[in-house]
Amino acid sequence: MSEYDLLIAAAKQARDNAHAPYSNFRVGAALRATSGRIFSGCNVENATYGLTVCAERVAIFKAISEGERGFDAIAVVTDTDTLTSPCGACRQLIWEFCGDVPVILSNLKGKVELIQMSTLFPKPFDASSL
Ligand code: THU
Repeated sequence: MSEYDLLIAAAKQARDNAHAPYSNFRVGAALRATSGRIFSGCNVENATYGLTVCAERVAIFKAISEGERGFDAIAVVTDTDTLTSPCGACRQLIWEFCGDVPVILSNLKGKVELIQMSTLFPKPFDASSL
């Protein structure tokens, strides 16, 4: 049992709620706050395509809008053999609110990989750049 099992399970459960009729690519994400609370999200697509929001950003916006600050891990779950990394826009948002946290990538078969945000997003533009 890993310390990330609960987070992965929350991401998996959120993935079941994905609204992905255009891509059929269902994604679940879950964010762990330092308070211990877990916030999950799924991708929410739109007929315009461009208004689609990724699972990671849904989870982040839920947490931030609930007043939560300070996060120590994020999990992303898809049904692919090659695990899915957050897209560029999500990396920017994860960096903004979570910084150099471990990103736990997993699939429905139970494959798990950990990668640090500083590896995924090595030269960020952030508050320290202003
Ligand atoms: N997607 C996510 O939700 N997170 C990612 O990290 C990659 C992409 C979604 C967006 C869209 O609904 C679908 O996956 C295909 O791009």
